[in-house]
Amino acid sequence: MDIFDSVKTMQAKAASLRNQGKTVAFVPTMGYFHEGHLNLMREGRKRADYLVVSIYVNPTQFSPTEDLDQYPRDFTRDCSLAEQVGVDAVFFPDNAAMYPQGYQTYIDVENVTRNLCGASRPGHFRGVATICAKLFHIVQPHVTIFGKKDFQQLAVIKTMLRDLNMDIELIGLATTREDDGLAMSSRNAYLSAEERKSALALSRSLALAKHLFESGETDGDTIVRQVTQYIESHPLTNIDYVQISNADTIEETKNVDRNTFIALAVKVGATRLIDNYVFGDALDVPRPE
Ligand code: PAF
Repeated sequence: MDIFDSVKTMQAKAASLRNQGKTVAFVPTMGYFHEGHLNLMREGRKRADYLVVSIYVNPTQFSPTEDLDQYPRDFTRDCSLAEQVGVDAVFFPDNAAMYPQGYQTYIDVENVTRNLCGASRPGHFRGVATICAKLFHIVQPHVTIFGKKDFQQLAVIKTMLRDLNMDIELIGLATTREDDGLAMSSRNAYLSAEERKSALALSRSLALAKHLFESGETDGDTIVRQVTQYIESHPLTNIDYVQISNADTIEETKNVDRNTFIALAVKVGATRLIDNYVFGDALDVPRPE
């Protein structure tokens, strides 16, 4: 497996692959891999001749009060896992490579970032869009794979690719869950045993939302109220948002249909977790009694 830490060598490799008529798949990550990341890589492996994974904890998507410094990192373990699933190259730049002295160019994707995490984490998606645009220019992929756990992030990337005429196919992959339903996340590593138990409230409340919808409920306020009550009945939880939005525009809606999704952001102890459910999709999580 190749490891590139310089923009120039990664870009030269991508250009040479393209010259040889080879296709490139790309999975951007912040490292500390779990099965969810590995599933994105397995999908990438199927879709192109050469698979690149980037590992970079991007400072511009963290606010000064967030967990940039504590964000878990384990490069050696990540490389060994990446190699096991058939990754061809890891791109591992440092901050000086990505944001050299004098850096001043950012991308703002407007409407789809107004709600949800865009509202509660100001500047977050500006950082995400900027780093992804930079990574796309460096890795020059034909196809890129993102997880649906960050549903709004997927919408931001889709909008940016369309608006900036970036000729890259975007694949959104279903959320990978632990056996008990908890959505996999590098931040799950922060949870104590007691918090881990309460964190199950997220996926189970989504199963409740699914059940309500499948029983004929289409009033968003009713579903949001029941989901909120269910989460609040768990200790150590503090809701940031529970909201139903249109899956394309990410605008809040009160009318639930198959083109809407319910998104959650909940602090469990000090750890902020997100999860979501697109109404009508499968969700392999037991519904609460
Ligand atoms: O989803 C993530 O891990 C990050 O937001 C991403 C896409 C790698 C950009 O830093």
